[in-house]
Order: sequence, then C-alpha cells, then structure tokens
Amino acid sequence: MQIGVSGASGHLGKAVVAELLERGSGHGIVGISRNPATVHAAVEARHGDYDRPETLIAAYRGLDRLLIIPSSEVEAGRRDRHFLSAIDAAAEASVGHIVMMSTAASREVDAHEMFAAYFSGEQHLMRTARRWSILRMNYYAESFAQVAAMSIGSGVVPGLGESDVAFVSRADVAAAAAGILLGDGHAGAIYNATGPAAIGGRERAELLAEIIGKPVHFAVMAEAQLRGGMLQANVPPQYVAAMIDIERRFVAGDFNIVTGDVERLGGRAPRSLRTVLAKQFG
Ligand SMILES: NC(=O)c1ccc[n+]([C@@H]2O[C@H](COP(=O)([O-])OP(=O)(O)OC[C@H]3O[C@@H](n4cnc5c(N)ncnc54)[C@H](OP(=O)(O)O)[C@@H]3O)[C@@H](O)[C@H]2O)c1
Repeated sequence: MQIGVSGASGHLGKAVVAELLERGSGHGIVGISRNPATVHAAVEARHGDYDRPETLIAAYRGLDRLLIIPSSEVEAGRRDRHFLSAIDAAAEASVGHIVMMSTAASREVDAHEMFAAYFSGEQHLMRTARRWSILRMNYYAESFAQVAAMSIGSGVVPGLGESDVAFVSRADVAAAAAGILLGDGHAGAIYNATGPAAIGGRERAELLAEIIGKPVHFAVMAEAQLRGGMLQANVPPQYVAAMIDIERRFVAGDFNIVTGDVERLGGRAPRSLRTVLAKQFG
C-alpha cells in the first residue's frame, strides 16, 4: 500500500511519518511538501503546493491512502482554499481513501472565523471522496505550553471565561492518524483525538504554578483587554485574532470532549497536560 502524508514537513506531519515508519512495515510512505528536502530522508518526498492545485494532482497520484494536514495559514479564506484544492486533487488523482485532519471546534460559523475552514473542508470531503475519514484534534497541549511560557512572566493565565479543555499532545494526534492510515474499517468515521481529561482554567493555572514552583493564577478578561495585552506583547495581529477565536471556542465548550480514540487508534493512552508541561518546564 502507498500511504501519503500532505504537510509531511510540519510538526504534526513529521510525527505522523515517524509513527508510520515505526509501525507501517511493508508499506510505501510518501511525504508531500512545498520543500521535499525537508521531508524525512527515509520516505519518498514529492513536491506539492496547496496554492498550486496542479502540483497536488501529480503529488497524490498512485496513493492508496492520503492524510491531508492543513497549513497553519490564518489569513482569511486561505486555509479553506487549501482544503478544497487538496481534496479535489486527491479525488482527481484517484486516491483510494482520504483522511482529513480537522478540529474539535469544526462548526458552521461565520466564514471569517478560523474554524469555518475546517467545517467547509469536512463537508467538501464527504461530498467528494469515495472513501474518507476525519480526525478532529483537540487543542494541542504543546500550544498551551507556549501560552504558559508567557504566563510564567506575568503570573497570569488569561481567558475569556472558565473553560474545560481536553488538551492533547501532538504526538498522540500523530499516533491516532497513523492508526487510521494503517488500519481498516475507518471509512466514514469521524474521530476525536483528545487528552485523557478536560482541564478547567483555574486548574491549568494551578498545575503550571505547581510545576514551576511560582504563583500563577487564572484571570478572566474582557475581549478588548485580552486583545490589547497580546498586541502589547508584540503578538502579530493575525495571530491575536486567531487566539481570540480559539478562546471563544474554549468558552463555548467545543474542546470539552474526552474520547478513547487516541488509545483505540494509536495503541497507547494519551499523555496528560501535566506530563507535557512537566517535560517543558519541570
Ligand atoms: N489543535 C491545535 O491546537 C493546533 C495548534 C496549532 C496548529 N494547529 C493546526 O494543525 C495543523 C498542523 O499543525 P503543525 O504544528 O504541524 O503545523 P506546521 O508545523 O506549521 O506545518 C504545516 C504544514 O503545512 C504545510 N504547508 C503550509 N503551506 C502549504 C502550502 N501552501 N502547500 C503545501 N503545504 C503547505 C507545511 O509544509 P511546507 O511548508 O514544507 O510546504 C507543513 O508541512 C495546522 O493546520 C495547524 O493550523 C492545531
């Protein structure tokens, strides 16, 4: 079987390729990126650019299964186009089974909101692909660790409100994705890769404080205050907008879902937020 990973050079893509190399003996593995030189040397590397659909058809040809990992573009409309181009190209290249990375916050929301791209991508996949699976990821524990690094200086973990979030380690998302690509019986399934528990705002501040041995508290802020604080800390405006979208989804409860899918698909229990934070700051 030929298994492709589109977005193979990114953090998640590299981790999926590593899982496939470890567990997928006997299968051909193809990594697709705009820069094939950045793909793992042990796999076949092909050039494919989500902004140039014609390159994708050639890149996806001959694949039995393909994982589409979206770009990290936050510019309005760009990630939507990337999903549609990749799905259309995979269908055109007659890929047997398309697996799409999505998010637990996939909802039919206003087109300008970051998560709209995932919902329209899922809908397009269902309409277009012969066989498909969707893996919705929860919020990365590693992304929270990046925010937490700023909180160490300020002593504050900010939020738009209390929220329970089942933070998942990127490595566990990769293990689940590899499980779908290598296994059978996943066509038409929507999975949720989550951590082992949903953790509230106050609880995550307490956890961070315990690990770093310094006081940190959770503070609920108005949107304007949160936005202003990030801009003052020189976070680029497009990322500030993305963080606000994420915070809104936190408060709406979209990431408050705990499943056994990482263990079922990846073959191991998911790491806790404590484990990820202790590795980073302990
Ligand atoms: N759940 C969460 O908490 C969370 C947090 C952060 C990000 N994410 C999302 O999860 C996904 C994977 O995250 P990540 O950390 O692995 O992201 P990443 O390291 O930025 O990787 C993105 C991948 O997309 C590829 N890419 C970007 N633009 C492309 C284009 N025009 N054509 C083809 N490939 C393109 C990149 O490949 P080349 O540059 O080599 O072409 C790279 O392999 C992203 O969609 C990201 O937005 C989720």
